[in-house]
Order: sequence, then structure tokens, then C-alpha cells
Amino acid sequence: MHHFLYRDNYMFCEDVSVSEIAGQVGTPFYLYSHATLRHHFLTFEKAFEDVPSLICFSAKSNSNLAVLRLFAGLGGGLDIVSGGELFRGLQAGIPPDRIVFSGVGKREDEIAYALESGILMFNVESLQELESVNQCAARLDKKAPIALRVNPDVDPKTHPYISTGLKENKFGLDMKSAAEAYKSAAALPHVEVIGISCHIGSQVTDVAPFIDALHRIKELIRSLETFGISISYLDLGGGLGITYDQEAPPHPNEYGKAVLEALGDSAFTLILEPGRVIVGNAGILVTQVLYTKSGEEKDFVIVDAAMNDLVRPALYKAFHAIERVVRDQEETIRADVVGPICESGDFLAKDRDIPRVEVGDLLAVMSAGAYGFTMSSNYNSRPRVPEVMVKGDQFHVVRARESYEDLIKGESIPPFLSAFAEDDGLARG
Ligand code: LLP
Repeated sequence: MHHFLYRDNYMFCEDVSVSEIAGQVGTPFYLYSHATLRHHFLTFEKAFEDVPSLICFSAKSNSNLAVLRLFAGLGGGLDIVSGGELFRGLQAGIPPDRIVFSGVGKREDEIAYALESGILMFNVESLQELESVNQCAARLDKKAPIALRVNPDVDPKTHPYISTGLKENKFGLDMKSAAEAYKSAAALPHVEVIGISCHIGSQVTDVAPFIDALHRIKELIRSLETFGISISYLDLGGGLGITYDQEAPPHPNEYGKAVLEALGDSAFTLILEPGRVIVGNAGILVTQVLYTKSGEEKDFVIVDAAMNDLVRPALYKAFHAIERVVRDQEETIRADVVGPICESGDFLAKDRDIPRVEVGDLLAVMSAGAYGFTMSSNYNSRPRVPEVMVKGDQFHVVRARESYEDLIKGESIPPFLSAFAEDDGLARG
């Protein structure tokens, strides 16, 4: 469900015409629907309302302050993987005691920042990290609340780059060593074991792997209890998929029902870290056709958005539907929709049947709310695009378009290069 719908052949985001926003903001830009974000968050939360639970939205999927503020207002927490995401979360008003910190490579300064902020829990991914957290907490005279992230070795059957719960992946501790690691953790003076966590992968379109993982974790929890280690928080991670094309992922209700059934009677607080399922279909990338070109083999539609703005098609061959913002005719062509970047991998769609378009037409790259802006870059010195949020009949630029000045922010020319040196042999050959 989303709020990007046509009225008389014009695409609207809620009650605002997408062309009107393009006219005012210019292209390309990301556009998010407040009503869709809210609906997705509340639907997900409701699926778990029968048990004590906390929805920690995964900041990496969309970390715009306005988006985070919206979830903060709905009672959401945050799943972070860096000091930068912690900063964003706190700036957006997410209470620190609703923040969980995952990631295989937490630096000491990030651990200290999180400890000082009073986050809910560190999802610790290795024995060395456990030691680091303990030492850092000792220095700050604190006790760090931790979960160990375990790797349940289930196959989420998703793209290999985004599967994380297999033995071959770098994440978490394997099930065999987890019990020993828990014993070590329990013996550390500045660590308090409060939870267990896992995350099996992303864009998972079946409930079975989540349930397999949960069963394996429950087994581990039972064996921990025999050593006198008890768990208060069970963090199942994120990963529920969405429909980009033909996928039929379970509805959050179905996912919630299956998880709660598998969980059975328990005293845990369940933590979930959804990202994509909340924001994916709540955002689009709006771009304008710059040129059209007929090659010998195929047609090209050259647009002003590129792989630096939305890298998913180039990186994962991900499918994003492409719609016209104004539907004015029905004829279709087969084409690649490409950006201006100097790489053949710079495409938003390949060999796609799309409506015939003209120079100046606006296109909407659908389902771009997750891992869209957050993975964008300045490659080819392209300023990053603005993000806009619509609520009802209002829209607001929630991140301004970068300027050329922004591109060189922080760069400087060292004194030894400040004048064009006469004796610069290299330059003169
Ligand atoms: N929790 C942890 C520990 C994670 O690593 C992730 C995603 C999530 C939660 C949220 O997963 P979600 O609900 O969004 O599936 N850039 C890729 C996705 C990478 C996901 C990495 N981890 C993409 O564009 O598809």
C-alpha cells in the first residue's frame, strides 16, 4: 500500500501533484509520503502488539531526520550501525533507551558515544568486540548492556550481497561458539548480558527462514538458562521484503503471526529491526528525461538521475518499476533507462518495456524509499539530490539539494600546491 496514485493521469503523492513539486524543487529528487510511512510503521507495530515489543527502525535504510522524527513520534526505536546513525537518531528525538547498536566493526569512540548516550543494547558480534565494550565501559565506569548477535546459519534465499545469516557471512557469532561466548560475557565486570540478536538478511520474501532462525535461537536460550544466563530481549533483526516487481512477500501481519506462534509463551521483550518494509514503498525518485537515443541494438532513455543517486540497480541488478508522472499516451518501447555517469553500469532499468517518453518528461522510479538516498554518493561530482516529504496537501524539503560548494566542503589545497610552482617538472614533462 502506498500513496502515489494517479488523478486524471497525473501522479499525486497524497494530495500534492508530483509535477508541481518537480516544478518547484527541480529534478532529480526523492519524495516520501508521510501517510505511507506512518501506515507502514503502525501496521508493523500492530503485528506484534500482543507481546512486549519494540520496533527499532533500521536507520541505514533511510536516515533522514524527518523520517526518524516521524517514527520517534510513533513510539519507535532505532537500529543503528555507526556513531553517525546514533547522532541522527538522537537529533531526531529517538530516546536513547530505544536504540540498539549492531555492526561488526564498532570503533572505540562509537562504543563510548553509545555508552554515554545510554542506549538500550549493543548487539556484539565478536569476542574481541566484547572485550572492547567491556574495557570502554570500565573506563567510563559503566556497565554495558549487551546482546550477542548469533549467526543462525539459515538461508534467507535473497541476493548474496544482502544475505547475512549464513555461516559464510561475516556477521555475528556462530551457534557453536555462542554458548561459550555468553559464558565469557557473563563473567565480565562491565558488561551486563540482557539479550540475544540475529539478522538473517534483507528482502526476504518467505517467513520460513525467520522461523527457522527463531527456533535455533530459542534452543540456544534454553541451553543458556542451564548455565544461569537469562535473556530479557530477543532481537530478531529486520529483513522482511517488499514488492518491487512480482515478489509476494508475507504481509507484516502474517510475519508477526508466524513469529509469535513460534515464540510461544515467553517473558522476552521482542525487538524487531525493520527497514525496507517500512520505507521502501513510501518513497520514489523523480527524474527528468534529458535525451532519447536509438541505438542499433536498443533504445536509450537518458535521465538526470544516475547510479550515484540510486545504486541498487547497478549494484544488485535490482528492479525498480518506472512510471510516468504524467500518463499521456500508451505506446511502449523497449529501452535502457540510464543516467549521465560515465560507466556502463549506470542504469536504472535495463531492457525494460516502458512508455514512449519525450525529452522533458518526468519519470518516477518506484519503491526507492529504502537504501535509496542513504546509499547515494557524489560520484562524478554530482551534488546529492534533495529529499521531500509530503503530508496531505503540504510538502516540505527535508534535505536541500547539495550545491557545488558542498561538493568541496572540507577539501583544501596544501601550501606546497598553493602556487603553480615553476619547478613542477611532472606537469611540464
Ligand atoms: N538489522 C540489521 C542488523 C541489518 O543489517 C539490516 C540490514 C536491517 C536490520 C534492516 O534490514 P531490512 O528490514 O531493511 O531488510 N543495501 C541493500 C540492503 C542491505 C541491508 C543490510 N542490513 C539493498 O539496497 O537492498
